[in-house]
Amino acid sequence: LTMLSLKHFSFTFCKEKRSSCFRHLTHFASSQSNSVGNDSKASLQSNPSVSSYYKVNNQSAIDTAAGKPSVRLTPYMILYSGKSHDGSHLLKSAQYLWKELPVRIAHRIHEFRSLPFIIGCNPTILEVHELYIRAFNILNNHPVIRTPEDEAAYSRLLRNLLDDHTHVVTQLAAGFKECRKHIQNEDLVRQFCDRTLTSRLGIRLLVTHHLSLREEKPYHVGIINKSLRLKDLVEKWAEFTRRLAFHRYGKSPDIRLSGHVGSSFPYITLPLDYVLPELFKNAVRATIESHPDASETISDRGGGIPHAVLPKVMHYNFTTAEESTEQRLAVDPLGNIVDASNPGSGSTMSPMHGFGFGLPTSRAYAEYLGGSLTIQSLQGLGTDVYLRLKHIDSKHDAFRI
Ligand code: ADP
Ligand code: COI
Repeated sequence: LTMLSLKHFSFTFCKEKRSSCFRHLTHFASSQSNSVGNDSKASLQSNPSVSSYYKVNNQSAIDTAAGKPSVRLTPYMILYSGKSHDGSHLLKSAQYLWKELPVRIAHRIHEFRSLPFIIGCNPTILEVHELYIRAFNILNNHPVIRTPEDEAAYSRLLRNLLDDHTHVVTQLAAGFKECRKHIQNEDLVRQFCDRTLTSRLGIRLLVTHHLSLREEKPYHVGIINKSLRLKDLVEKWAEFTRRLAFHRYGKSPDIRLSGHVGSSFPYITLPLDYVLPELFKNAVRATIESHPDASETISDRGGGIPHAVLPKVMHYNFTTAEESTEQRLAVDPLGNIVDASNPGSGSTMSPMHGFGFGLPTSRAYAEYLGGSLTIQSLQGLGTDVYLRLKHIDSKHDAFRI
């Protein structure tokens, strides 16, 4: 049973779109062999791209930007920033981003540079680090935005950057998994991932908000849906997970919704598009794997989480995927995920579980947005997950993006 409580609304249902960066997996596999290992110094010296991160790459501009505080906005400020017929609200929004994004991205780069050397040298983590340096250079060198034409060009650039960074969460998940054996301090990973992933969420929310302001969508102001029907969103991700389960296991439990299913309220869909499928996938996977012979089950009576495992499920990279009964997957030469049992199938559906990033990332997102995610598990029985969202329409005591 997974519970979604929301202020005084609550939904009962029987769990991100985790973007699948499987095209990188072939690279991960090949990079493993020369990754940080016994001789990281030698590999650093022989790898000019590694040393360049620490020496050149616009170091002084990055330091200057990283020394500035970021200006975080409340949803209320975003919602009521006004809409003009002459498009000046778009210009103002772009000018805010033009100032703000290099600062936020420089903070991210500093954080990569503060990682223990052995982790920072992991090729997959370096790849993400490089993406941020690239984004910093592009955004920091962008000329001042003065005209609607400048704003249009800047928006095209932002759209491309969003696309270029689509797989960052999966890349980080894979990178940290690769260098797990060098990690002694779990807190360090948690702090880095919490900060990096939530800051990235904030950046993506602001950029997507700006791009959405350019489109007319009923009941929306940019990323804010003024009348979000949670039931519709929950149903969408429940159906997605059921299709995935049918594909992966050949069956799926029913997912039933209860509570205030008719309610609607202003909220932001984007983070829920990550969190909801993560929670559904966990619940459906547990239900199927703990009742292999049941033709029909209700709610997450998925056997719960063993006592010994429970403290670890919020650790980044903790997963019981290895023990899963899901069909084994393989990656084809193009990086698409395929059924090992049916290599020609070309299936690109994502798996039911992955790098053990779903729960910790979902909790970090929920807390960043002023809410919480807690787990109540009864070993041998099932699991309740409580996702609490903070309403966005308060002027005071609001979270900031
Ligand atoms: P992943 O799904 O990639 O393994 P998550 O962070 O979503 O990563 O979950 C971590 C682990 O927590 C899972 O592998 C599983 O062992 C356990 N878990 C999460 N949700 C449930 C649930 N509803 N029932 C039983 N176990 C669960
Ligand atoms: C990210 O998605 O990682 C970003 O920081 C996006 C930004 C470069 C536009």
